[in-house]
Amino acid sequence: MMKVGVPSSLLSRSIPLAAARRSAPLATIARSIVTGRGSHQQHGGQQQHQQQSYGRRSGSQTEGMGGWIWASAAGAMVVGGSSVGEAMCELPKDKSDKVDWKAVRADICKLLEDDKYEKEPPGPVLVRLAWHASGTYDSATKTGGSNGATMRFTPESTDGANAGLHIARNMLAPIKDKYPNVSLADLWIFAGVTAIEEMGGPSIEFRPGRTDAPDASTVPPNGRLPDADKGQPNSTCQHIRDIFGRMGFNDQEMVALSGAHALGRCHTDRSGYWGPWTRAPTTFSNEYFRLLMEEKWSPKKTHEGKKWTGPLQYEDPTGELMMLPSDIALIQDKEFKRWVEVYAKDEDRFFKDFARAFKKLTELGVSFPEDDNILVKLKKLVLG
Ligand code: HEM
Repeated sequence: MMKVGVPSSLLSRSIPLAAARRSAPLATIARSIVTGRGSHQQHGGQQQHQQQSYGRRSGSQTEGMGGWIWASAAGAMVVGGSSVGEAMCELPKDKSDKVDWKAVRADICKLLEDDKYEKEPPGPVLVRLAWHASGTYDSATKTGGSNGATMRFTPESTDGANAGLHIARNMLAPIKDKYPNVSLADLWIFAGVTAIEEMGGPSIEFRPGRTDAPDASTVPPNGRLPDADKGQPNSTCQHIRDIFGRMGFNDQEMVALSGAHALGRCHTDRSGYWGPWTRAPTTFSNEYFRLLMEEKWSPKKTHEGKKWTGPLQYEDPTGELMMLPSDIALIQDKEFKRWVEVYAKDEDRFFKDFARAFKKLTELGVSFPEDDNILVKLKKLVLG
């Protein structure tokens, strides 16, 4: 923890106090990490079928890392704060500028390839962890989101929506131990981004700077993550718009983000649903959209020869693939369907839109040093 004092000269300006406090001391920090991967290669949906191993298209675990750029790394990010009016406050200190992110990434890659996870590779659940850590953000109250890594605490850790995510958190614990300067909040997001890229997805810009909440005082209430079914297609669509709208996303971004269901599967002991969305669940692709458009989806009636007693879900004619009611809602609503069609036809477009939306999602509520640059803020105030 470090003490931060706010110069009185700052308090007299017409800058919101919280922003001014975050900006002190006046460290001008322009720090960003850019992954140096080239643009992804096109890969046909059919070719991916039956693929079991990771969809990474490069050879070695650290390939594509050559282009990591540190623009500069001076000073430390400051988040949190005390109530308005206090001139001194205790704030967690971000130590991410002391991290060898290339080495962290190599260790995440090792985890992704670990033989002990042969039955169920860790990539998809790491993506889900990054999403659920971020998806609690509420733009009205500016609470929730990936900053703080609050899913360590109850009630968030026991939210039914987060069932099974302790597996992903536990997988990453040894990496946190090895790199104590990495915040868990950054690590959860970095692991998700790395997993997407290693599974053949787009490069996603990752910026470190999240800090870990010291206690449960900033844990958001449960119930902020989406349910897969609200009974009626209209209600489910409205629910999707309510949940993602609360975070500040539009229809197009909602559909793009849903494309992550190309990865992974549902587990009856976690969500109650069963099965994978695609036949290549460790390859990031537009396959989810293609299947949504091209397969015939009907309510699941049986499972392994017996009556299906789980919640309503949909299956393809083989019974091997599934869709949630919230997935099917995307082709029941005209506006959503428009984007499903676009992404089913154009994987490059999907990758581009997904990368932008996922960065936005994982940065909701996070204050980065470069955003706090007082000169940038003043310029914005003066020039609009
Ligand atoms: C309406 C929105 C969404 C709903 C209702 C939803 C629901 C679900 C459910 C029920 C599961 C199965 C969990 C389990 O049983 O293990 C799941 C898995 C998953 N979700 Fe979503 N999801 C939504 C949006 C998203 C978004 C936006 C992302 C990422 C950007 C995402 C990524 C994933 C991934 C990667 C898995 C697979 C996890 C694994 O294999 O362990 N989902 N989702």
